[in-house]
Amino acid sequence: MKILMVCLGNICRSPLAEGVLRSKVLAQGLDWSVDSAGTGSWHIGSPPDSRSVAVARRYGIDISGLRARQFSAHDFDLFDVIVVMDSSNYRDVMHKARSMQDKEKVWLLRNYVSPNRNEAVPDPYYDDALFEVVYRQVDEACSALIKHYSTEMNDTTHG
Ligand code: 4NP
Repeated sequence: MKILMVCLGNICRSPLAEGVLRSKVLAQGLDWSVDSAGTGSWHIGSPPDSRSVAVARRYGIDISGLRARQFSAHDFDLFDVIVVMDSSNYRDVMHKARSMQDKEKVWLLRNYVSPNRNEAVPDPYYDDALFEVVYRQVDEACSALIKHYSTEMNDTTHG
């Protein structure tokens, strides 16, 4: 399973989601690859926001080595699932889809916890207090995501 986490800047939410999911994947011995990207271009090459690095560190996860990159249509070829944080990311990613097959790869992160509710992981960039909230939402949703796809993969016809 190849999973790409996507937000706007790829410095706050999606690097946290990448780090948290990778940590759970390793702990469970799954042979998955995990990456993240942003729909915007402003922060290409930047490390995660220091507040994301700090909250991850409080929970024992080091995301300081990650660097931001921009989402592109080619990512639909590289990943099985594209996981977005909010409806704005969803719209931007769907806009780059080239086919129905591409569109079917795109999911909102919190729908793994609350199906069909389309709840956002809030953008914490202008609100320091949201980083802890984002971390907890991401942590809960990554556990649900793993449960979702590892159950599906018991059917060995899936990759
Ligand atoms: P992210 O947060 O999408 O979770 O990485 C943001 C980071 C930067 C900006 C907006 C959101 N920005 O406008 O620069």
